[in-house]
Amino acid sequence: MRFVNNYENKIKEIVQEKKLTYCIDTMGCQMNENDSNKYMGILESMGFQKAPIEKANLILFNTCCIRENAENTLFGRLGFLKQRKEKEENVYIVVVGCMTQQKHILEKIKKSYRFVDVVLGTGSMRLFPEKLYKILCLKQKEIEYLEVGNEIEEEVPILYEDQYKASVSIIYGCNNFCSYCIVPYVRGRERSRKPEDILNDIRKLAQKGYKEIMLLGQNVNSYGNDFEEEYHFPDLLKEVEKIEGIEIIRFMSPHPKDFKDDLIEVIKNSKKIARQIHLPLQSGNTEILSKMNRKYSKEQFLDLALKLKQIPDISLSTDIIVGFPNETEEQFLDTLDVVKKVGFDQIYMFIYSKRNGTVAAKMEDKTSHEEKVERLERLKKLYEDMLPELNQKMIGKTYFVLVEGKSKNNDKLYTGRTSQNKVVIFSADDSYIGKIVPVKIDSEHLWYLKGSIVD
Ligand code: 5AD
Ligand code: SF4
Repeated sequence: MRFVNNYENKIKEIVQEKKLTYCIDTMGCQMNENDSNKYMGILESMGFQKAPIEKANLILFNTCCIRENAENTLFGRLGFLKQRKEKEENVYIVVVGCMTQQKHILEKIKKSYRFVDVVLGTGSMRLFPEKLYKILCLKQKEIEYLEVGNEIEEEVPILYEDQYKASVSIIYGCNNFCSYCIVPYVRGRERSRKPEDILNDIRKLAQKGYKEIMLLGQNVNSYGNDFEEEYHFPDLLKEVEKIEGIEIIRFMSPHPKDFKDDLIEVIKNSKKIARQIHLPLQSGNTEILSKMNRKYSKEQFLDLALKLKQIPDISLSTDIIVGFPNETEEQFLDTLDVVKKVGFDQIYMFIYSKRNGTVAAKMEDKTSHEEKVERLERLKKLYEDMLPELNQKMIGKTYFVLVEGKSKNNDKLYTGRTSQNKVVIFSADDSYIGKIVPVKIDSEHLWYLKGSIVD
């Protein structure tokens, strides 16, 4: 389904007359960031200009519901805006994204946050202009529940903040139903974008000077499973590789259960696919993995991770949940064991958060919150203890780095990332920004490396 904005001119008139501005507050994952880029594209195509949250006329919250704390964040931030809404004219509040697909959230907004103007669910971006028109021109609020939009919306205007790196969604939704995860309920079933649509988007980005592309999906290696013809993620990667101008290809997230040898071969043979793979572990214990419905065992994960580690210069990152219902000390030790055996360069770690409506929400959980916090700390410590050794292996070697800009803490230094996704800081000047340059690594500082450009 093509995105068509039938309200563009009408809204533009009002936006120009009132000089309306906007601000987007994004919570959650890279898929949400990507959706926010689209909301940004839609708003700017109608003349809205960006402003800080305290001044913006239209404030759009793009919400996440993967863990409970995101809910608290949204309602805290909405609370702050209540006064502005009461005192000022032309303040509009829009709530979109995953959280709005949960009926209890909608009820809460209707009951306690009645000053919200529009609520829009996931996969329903094409309805956004009409909703805007209704609030701006007809003063009609729109906070009804919408079923998850299960169509693919193409040709939505999109704007990136970065000039050299961009993300492109390739598949929406998820069919995996990991027992702890709310995503399949709020983002619907898997639907893959057509290869031509994806490749055209990437070609356009390459023409604009983008060098790095992140292919996004809840489960990228399910890509194409919903096509009639045989066309899968490795086929798409091979096509993206051919696009001139794109130098670095990343993707996130693959599911270990679907990570087959053909994908490993494509990665090995590619000159552009980043030497960094995100491989979500979630737990290192086979029994917990089975309760999580992950469809792999500790041993299968280890086999895969160690196979990937044989690719020269590869770095692995992962997601881990500690404190799944009734997780025992012994089971947690299996997670630590996998971390020790693999050596992850980056670990995103979370304490299990009960999500109503999921299978795990009904499981008995005798593990105390204190125990879970303590396990998280132990995992963090193990990770931080292992990181220097992984970083040290890079010292003395030269890596290609996409120069992103000045370092935040020191005006004379510049920052970029290696293919392994390691942050490197080095001396340079503005002429290097956006270029890919060889940098020799001199020292490691846990969260970043220092280096020097090789002439
Ligand atoms: N509790 C804690 N972490 C979760 N994740 C997904 N659902 C939950 C939950 N209920 C984590 C997983 C996933 C990442 C995006 O968020 O590790 O990979
Ligand atoms: Fe959630 Fe599992 Fe789907 Fe990832 S693969 S979005 S963790 S259900």
